[in-house]
Amino acid sequence: MEYRHLGKTGIRISELSLGSWITFHNQADVQAAMELMSAAYKAGVNFFDNAEAYAGGKSEEVMGAALKQLGWRRGSYLVSTKLYWGLHNNVNERNTLNRKRLIEGINGSLERLQLDYVDLIYCHRPDQTTPIEETVWAMHNIIEWGKAMYWGTSEWAAAEIVAAIEIAERHHLHKPVTEQPVYNLFERQRFSREYERVYKEYGYGTTTFSPLASGLLSGKYSKGIPENSRAALEGNDWLQDAVTDEENLVKVQALEPIASELDCTLAQLALAWCLKNRYVSTVITGASRVEQVQENMKASEVARRLTPEILERIDAIFVEKREEEED
Ligand SMILES: NC(=O)c1ccc[n+]([C@@H]2O[C@H](COP(=O)([O-])OP(=O)(O)OC[C@H]3O[C@@H](n4cnc5c(N)ncnc54)[C@H](OP(=O)(O)O)[C@@H]3O)[C@@H](O)[C@H]2O)c1
Repeated sequence: MEYRHLGKTGIRISELSLGSWITFHNQADVQAAMELMSAAYKAGVNFFDNAEAYAGGKSEEVMGAALKQLGWRRGSYLVSTKLYWGLHNNVNERNTLNRKRLIEGINGSLERLQLDYVDLIYCHRPDQTTPIEETVWAMHNIIEWGKAMYWGTSEWAAAEIVAAIEIAERHHLHKPVTEQPVYNLFERQRFSREYERVYKEYGYGTTTFSPLASGLLSGKYSKGIPENSRAALEGNDWLQDAVTDEENLVKVQALEPIASELDCTLAQLALAWCLKNRYVSTVITGASRVEQVQENMKASEVARRLTPEILERIDAIFVEKREEEED
């Protein structure tokens, strides 16, 4: 496992990490979570991603209980949480980054995670109704109080990130240090274009998510929706169109000869492709089974074998002609 600096910070993060969205509580109880996390930790993963909203707080509870039983030295791993959607359908408590909510939110997350602090706290989405200055001050306070080490943004517009950085600089507050954006072979536009300025000018880090497009890029949906897959889970109908879309499946299939030349799986190839982007600090993987973690963690080796020529062949499958011309 290689470790990359998280943007301009002194902290180094494993280039592959593990997140708990959808899986923890829904597919993995505490025992299963311990097994998934152990497999990742053994492979060198030092970052575990979570959020208040995942499974309505239960994902944090599961990870907290797992960490407690695993008993790892706190200095040996990083944990995150994210705030925005909230847990209660009430005014001031949902879809917001107001000061009161953020401070109540971090306290609740720490309780569920059974931790004194998280290493990273993200604003899970931008909030157009709260002044960015209020959010920046609240995040600064959370860090000053020792409840989080660093803070970041998730799916914020580049202009909003720059505004937050500039407010923090003006008042000598803790700046956000990383974005958590989607980044995979199907969804790379925003990462590659809009955010470029924030990596280059501000040295912003990135902890990217959904590298397999929820499993689509593993090829598992080529013959329909397997029973034990994410798209088959109750309440996940929203995913079914994307994973059965004929055009998407043709693209995934077209990767197969490249994967066999490299003697790797489609999932490893898709993860390795994400790792090749030097602006990626860590690729947050997801897994419902230990075998998936073990398979996915080998993507680092595959990334080392991805030559510019292979990357061009992959682009030829996924990048539309029109997009190439715009570049
Ligand atoms: N900030 C945000 O807004 C945001 C949004 C989404 C995710 N995230 C973070 O990013 C993490 C990763 O995202 P993601 O879970 O969407 O990642 P993903 O890699 O796109 O999808 C992971 C899912 O794909 C399937 N899978 C994984 N490895 C596989 C393999 N080798 N072979 C076959 N199937 C495989 C598993 O689902 P099944 O086995 O159930 O099919 C697994 O749960 C999340 O846990 C979360 O921490 C953040």
